[in-house]
Amino acid sequence: MTKIAVKIPGLTMKNPLMPASGTFGFGDTPASTKFDLNQMGAMVMKTATVSSRTGNPQPQIKVLEDGVLNSVGLTNPGVDSVVADKILPFKAKYPDLPIVASVGGSSVADYVEVAGKLANSGAVSALEINVSCPNVANGGMHFGTDPEVVENLTSKVKAASGQVPIYVKLTPNVTDIAVIAKAAENGGADGVSLINTILGLEIDLKTCRPVLGNNYGGLSGQSVQPVALRMVNQVYQAVKLPIIGMGGIATAEDVAKFMLAGASAVAVGTAHFKDSLAIPHIAAELPRVLDEMGVSDINDLVGQLKFN
Ligand code: DOR
Repeated sequence: MTKIAVKIPGLTMKNPLMPASGTFGFGDTPASTKFDLNQMGAMVMKTATVSSRTGNPQPQIKVLEDGVLNSVGLTNPGVDSVVADKILPFKAKYPDLPIVASVGGSSVADYVEVAGKLANSGAVSALEINVSCPNVANGGMHFGTDPEVVENLTSKVKAASGQVPIYVKLTPNVTDIAVIAKAAENGGADGVSLINTILGLEIDLKTCRPVLGNNYGGLSGQSVQPVALRMVNQVYQAVKLPIIGMGGIATAEDVAKFMLAGASAVAVGTAHFKDSLAIPHIAAELPRVLDEMGVSDINDLVGQLKFN
């Protein structure tokens, strides 16, 4: 029997697959009703902030040939409603599925407050600290580009999260992502997740304007995969933390590549635009891909990329 179960701080998973934050909303979007979510290793919730946010001007999403550009802007009903109306009912429906809640903010105090409320909900197994959203002017990736800020924020959020492990979600929009990962490690993170989306621009030639209402947006999907793999590998070499890898994963082969590069688990996001059953499909294919590689336990792949 090929083993595909994985274990990272807070998360005991039947397979390494979870949805990228935002992909399935709070488990209440049409895509998240297409299959039994218990087939995933874990559920990752959309980012919550202190107060509700309505998001950026429309259009917020542009589907490109090999990816998606989004400028959603952390739309959510605010952390109190996220806990009471989203996470607790979801936990009641899926008691055995580990939940990762995502934390956003416009100040360190915001992150601390949101993390504390999510951790104290009693329903989440881990937190993802989103210091990498490219679509908000005040907050988001501005907290994820300076190593001193990352270390300080991580240590304060860690103190507020009690026994709930924290994963710092890294932005690719930096010169050296390994330096940022090291800062998260120094601040006491239990793991890191990467990559969030790459800041981009698409232009409509008829109007000579950006296609997105907020002008720039974050690029995800197939076209970012080589960047994501390179960054996962750089972070793997720089820190001892477990890595949740993501960036254009659509097949079981892609999962194997991310694990070779150094990821211990993975997230699937943009693939759901083409196939809302991407996660169960990949889970079903994983044993075959591992068999073909001569691997009996998926954990044996982690970091086994060979350079010569
Ligand atoms: O690309 C992204 N879009 N990354 C995030 O972290 C959040 C999301 C949004 O809401 O804009």
